[in-house]
Amino acid sequence: MAKLGCLPLVGFLALLSFFSCAICATFTIINNCGYTVWPGVLSGAGTAALATSGFSLESGQSLAVHVPSSWSGRFWGRTHCSTDPSTGIFTCDTGDCGSGRLDCSGSGPAPPATLAEFTLNGSGGMDFFDVSLVDGYNLPVLVAPQNLGNGGGNCTATGCVVDLNGICPSGLQVTLSDSGGQSVACRSACDAFGTPEYCCSGEYGNPNTCKPSAYSLFFKNSCPRAYSYAFDDSTSTFTCPTGVNYLITFCPSTTSQKAEETHPQGGASLPLINETMVFLGPIASGGPTRARLYAFAKVAATAGGLATLWPSFRQHLRF
Ligand SMILES: *[C@@H]1O[C@H](CO)[C@@H](O)[C@H](O)[C@H]1NC(C)=O
Ligand SMILES: *[C@@H]1O[C@H](CO)[C@@H](O)[C@H](O)[C@H]1NC(C)=O
Ligand SMILES: *[C@@H]1O[C@H](CO)[C@@H](O)[C@H](O)[C@H]1NC(C)=O
Repeated sequence: MAKLGCLPLVGFLALLSFFSCAICATFTIINNCGYTVWPGVLSGAGTAALATSGFSLESGQSLAVHVPSSWSGRFWGRTHCSTDPSTGIFTCDTGDCGSGRLDCSGSGPAPPATLAEFTLNGSGGMDFFDVSLVDGYNLPVLVAPQNLGNGGGNCTATGCVVDLNGICPSGLQVTLSDSGGQSVACRSACDAFGTPEYCCSGEYGNPNTCKPSAYSLFFKNSCPRAYSYAFDDSTSTFTCPTGVNYLITFCPSTTSQKAEETHPQGGASLPLINETMVFLGPIASGGPTRARLYAFAKVAATAGGLATLWPSFRQHLRF
């Protein structure tokens, strides 16, 4: 575990060590991003609140959070946070929970935010978990079960490990006006347009009528194991035997996270990284404009059903 240089975190560690933990699971949260992330935690209705519901992790830092068995809840990362010097109110440009403080104290994130969702010791004594882009995306997240044993086919890593902020379709992009229009998050179509088709509500409130949209496919093509819309269950829910611990990594390295299952089933049969999207790598690190254009054009062509335009676009770019 990285050294925890900052005093508030030492305080949290002291608190967490008082947490009695007879049978429990440990979530280790690692910030592998090149910037500070302020994770938030929301415990599900009817499960115990944790000793912490929000903390800060500088680049390279990690924190272990112990949860009771049968806990349910979600983790997410807040980015671009600051405390107003005059009011003392803490806010974040993405994932803000509206508490005005570091702790979220029972509030969830304002969308868009990438969510890591857990139900421990659920139906059949299994843990259920997923990474969801249903409420949009703000940073790459990987959830990996640890101490697996014979975990079974669906006890495997899931997440959205690609940086989608730069390639988010323009109608969904969230940009910061005070830092040169930097793209910091990508909204879901439900959040952006609010219609029943995109939100799977009203007459679209069941899996037979609510289908993937061009927008949800943008997320699914980039992150095949993550939830891209409300009824994306069959390829996006993962299960492990109760008793497993979990590693949650913000900004995992995209080159070292290949799927390695021997007998994959369900969502585990899908790659963690879409191989045809690997060229997105250079974009995240500020690669050449042409690669960026290519990636965006290809995603747009696929997502927008403009496949007929794609060959000419491609020729124009001379790839
Ligand atoms: C899982 O939940 C069941 C009840 O639903 C309980 O009897 C059992 O002790 C729980 N297992 C663990 C490891 O907490
Ligand atoms: C990968 O992305 C391409 C292009 O966006 C898409 O056609 C394909 O279905 C995706 N593959 C998976 C496994 O999601
Ligand atoms: C994995 O998930 C798929 C789809 O939900 C399911 O059909 C399969 O039975 C699961 N496998 C295990 C080992 O639980």
